[in-house]
Amino acid sequence: MSKKKDYFAHKAHVYENNEKRVTNVQNIADGILKEISHTKDMHILDFGSGTGLLTQEIAPYVKAITAVDMSTSMNKVLRDKTDGFPCELEVLELDITKEEYTHKLQNIDSIISSMTIHHIQNTEDLLQKFYDLLNENGTIGLADLETEDGSFHKEDTGVFHFGFDKEEFLNIAKKVGFKDLKIETISVSSKPYGEYPIFLLTGRK
Ligand SMILES: C[S@@+](CC[C@H](N)C(=O)[O-])C[C@H]1O[C@@H](n2cnc3c(N)ncnc32)[C@H](O)[C@@H]1O
Repeated sequence: MSKKKDYFAHKAHVYENNEKRVTNVQNIADGILKEISHTKDMHILDFGSGTGLLTQEIAPYVKAITAVDMSTSMNKVLRDKTDGFPCELEVLELDITKEEYTHKLQNIDSIISSMTIHHIQNTEDLLQKFYDLLNENGTIGLADLETEDGSFHKEDTGVFHFGFDKEEFLNIAKKVGFKDLKIETISVSSKPYGEYPIFLLTGRK
């Protein structure tokens, strides 16, 4: 059993009670489904899947999803939903920045991620891992905060970046080798104290 800190332990059980959070992830899912073609033979990796808000939106369109998250409490909420889930689902408790993962993540056609990459210190390393994991011509659909002033998080959830500059983020993906890249503002995360634009980067190996 890992001794890592579970930053979401106190909020996992109420995470989906926030309607604006749910709407934001639905917007992200709509953008991913519009930009990337999904078919019933595809195996998807959802990185930082949390309670599965994005996972469950993409599930009806694919064969299988491997949901990766290091938080025991968030994974439990997703695991509690697996009865009748619309595709094959494996929930892996894993921090791919620290643990060996390659043997657990095989034959990935597409990697999706919502609101997670700002929690990862080294963005280029992460995108390189995504590139290496993907099958040839595999796709990415990565959504996260655009540059913000640090006010988005009111508590410590392990944040390394106050969002990302869209052009810089796209250039990291380009440097790693991704092609057919497109980045656009796809949603706005509304908080009582501000509005935070969210980007979606799509591309192909
Ligand atoms: C803000 S939540 C987003 C959850 C979900 N994707 C959504 O949009 O609702 C970020 C998630 O990323 C996970 N996470 C953060 N760092 C991670 C890492 N290094 N490896 C795996 N999961 C990580 C957290 O545990 C958390 O569940």
